[in-house]
Amino acid sequence: MVALSDDIKEIFTKTKVMPMATASKSGVPNVAPMASIQLVGDDTVWIMDNYMVKTLENLKENPITALYFYDQETKRCFQVKGATEIKTSGPDYEKFRDQVRTKGHQYPAKSLIVIKITDVFECTPGKEAGKKVR
Ligand SMILES: Cc1cc2nc3c(=O)[nH]c(=O)nc-3n(C[C@H](O)[C@H](O)[C@H](O)COP(=O)(O)O)c2cc1C
Repeated sequence: MVALSDDIKEIFTKTKVMPMATASKSGVPNVAPMASIQLVGDDTVWIMDNYMVKTLENLKENPITALYFYDQETKRCFQVKGATEIKTSGPDYEKFRDQVRTKGHQYPAKSLIVIKITDVFECTPGKEAGKKVR
């Protein structure tokens, strides 16, 4: 597992919506916007499955995911890759379900996707682009 630095954590936390990429076992890519996202500590991301279809199917057969987040203000951008676990019960699931539902009772909060961060890359345009930072 890999920990985000404080400056990267700040940009992550500011970001409202993140594209979440997955791939099927045979390598067909998929990307979908996600907003029910929370950074837990400095090495774990929680995403609530409210309306995932292909994303969830892909994670069941290929548990690796990638996200990116971009800060308009500083123009900095980072890609995060991680290994996922799908939780439909237990204290973590219940905690995030209750949190998500305080934002909107309509959210089905079907499962919690736990992402353990394995890699972080810079995607800010320029000389640092593509570099592994963590
Ligand atoms: C701004 C925005 C935020 C979204 N946030 C979430 C989310 O946090 N969780 C979720 O399950 N779906 C979320 N959705 C809906 C999914 O992106 C949508 O259901 C999409 O079809 C999922 O992709 P998939 O069908 O390829 O799995 C969001 C959609 C938008 C436009």
